[in-house]
Amino acid sequence: MKESILIVDFGSQVTKLIARRIRDFGVFSEIIPFQKVKKEKFLKNNIKGIIYSGGPSSVENKTAPTVPNFLYDLKIPILGVCYGLQLICKDFNGKVNFSKYREFGRTKIKILKNSPLFKGSYQLKKNYNVWMSHSDKVIKMPKGFETLASSQSCKDAVIQNLKKKIFGVQFHPEVVHTEKGTNLLQNFVIDICKCKKTWSMDIFKNEIIKKIKEKVGNDRVLCGLSGGVDSTVTAVLVHQAIGDKLQCVFVDTGLMRMNEVEDIKKLFTQNFNIQLDVVDATKIFFSKLKGLKDPEQKRKTIGRQFIKVFEKYSKANNDIKFLAQGTLYPDVIESASQVGEKKITIKSHHNVGGLPKNMKFRLLEPLKELFKDEVRKLGKELNITDDFVNRHPFPGPGLGIRILGEINQKNVKILKEADYIFLKLIKEHGLYEKIWQAFCVLLPTRTVGVMGDGRTYEKICVLRAVTSVDGMTAESFKFSHEFLELCCNEIVNKVKGINRVCYDLTSKPPGTIEFE
Ligand code: XMP
Repeated sequence: MKESILIVDFGSQVTKLIARRIRDFGVFSEIIPFQKVKKEKFLKNNIKGIIYSGGPSSVENKTAPTVPNFLYDLKIPILGVCYGLQLICKDFNGKVNFSKYREFGRTKIKILKNSPLFKGSYQLKKNYNVWMSHSDKVIKMPKGFETLASSQSCKDAVIQNLKKKIFGVQFHPEVVHTEKGTNLLQNFVIDICKCKKTWSMDIFKNEIIKKIKEKVGNDRVLCGLSGGVDSTVTAVLVHQAIGDKLQCVFVDTGLMRMNEVEDIKKLFTQNFNIQLDVVDATKIFFSKLKGLKDPEQKRKTIGRQFIKVFEKYSKANNDIKFLAQGTLYPDVIESASQVGEKKITIKSHHNVGGLPKNMKFRLLEPLKELFKDEVRKLGKELNITDDFVNRHPFPGPGLGIRILGEINQKNVKILKEADYIFLKLIKEHGLYEKIWQAFCVLLPTRTVGVMGDGRTYEKICVLRAVTSVDGMTAESFKFSHEFLELCCNEIVNKVKGINRVCYDLTSKPPGTIEFE
């Protein structure tokens, strides 16, 4: 039986990150919702360790998620993250309470005592940056547990009961902004749980190609292509599985970047031997978006319209049964995360939350389990060129979620021009590869300016550029002041309709990368 780590999900937005970190160590891991923890699971699988995820609930709340007690009798090592730590405390008769001092984002912890969790990475008495997101904290430690590290407002930031091999961290080691968080998880998985490395991207690739073949059989697949890495990798994977039974369609929504449609068509036909059609749907997208201002309504309308275009295309081509999309795991979690009965939606990602219920296609989403950086690795494994693999992500709804408020041809033209200048300068200054994603956003408000001797009353353009590893967390890119001034001057001088430029410094969380 394949060795694995079981992750019990209590509804954190970043649970899946734990799984993917573990996969990076070459160990298989599986996430199950807390309600589904059953004894049989442990009989059928070789589970070597258990991780409790974070979650939005308070353990002292009567309806708070829990786990069955048998988990503690299995003598399998357990690591609790955030809510997970608090649950462990409660289950061992400690006490957790609401804290006045909430900690969100970056905090420092100090290591007070050595532990196998810290082996080879953290040093005693030193401070480390960690990513916290909590209001509750432990006020009475359970018997048999000890404190290993503290932050300024959270005394029990890392705890352990070494005899029982139960550990807890109040911060999120799975998030890239936590210093040495990966080392901590690795120590738990490899040293404490003693898992062997038996999982790789090559194995995943072959498994997924096999699954596509089995699922599709002799049917045909239509793949919605955007030119981004996700849909390109999807297309190449599906093509390897079923060859010419794949038809790619690129929908020109009118919400693409400057020259994007022509560039992608050229790149795709130069690089791949896959059938591609471009459908011009600009008119219909603009007419459906007319008058819409609410971000969710805009997203859902765009999602529905994509499907309508695909259905029309399919009908005209002898009914294609499957629709392949480059949906990634973050699209799924951020579209809906289930906590008990409560569904939390951050954004309806266009290829998830915007799908109509009575859609005629069967869906094929081979990347649904993966994060962007894993998709890039898979792209390299499939020999896809850097032009595609290293391209900044571009969201399905395109400029539609970067024009705040109503979308019209005039606003799109203004944004396209500003965005073109910003990206051109980024490329010219050799910054493109250092940035995860960079783009402009057009605000619906206008401000007063003075140009020449005249008064202007025009829109504000916000520059957004972030660093990230997987799109789940992000920090603003640290441009030089001179570079930002250069962008500002070029945009204000060259783009009619913009008279003010701002740079967004918000990290994710608490912000998101896109504005809508
Ligand atoms: P947010 O704004 O949620 O974005 O922090 C995280 C990443 O996802 C991209 N994004 C999307 N991609 N369909 C997509 O294919 C969507 O509806 C969508 N919304 C956001 C975003 O550009 C960033 O890379």
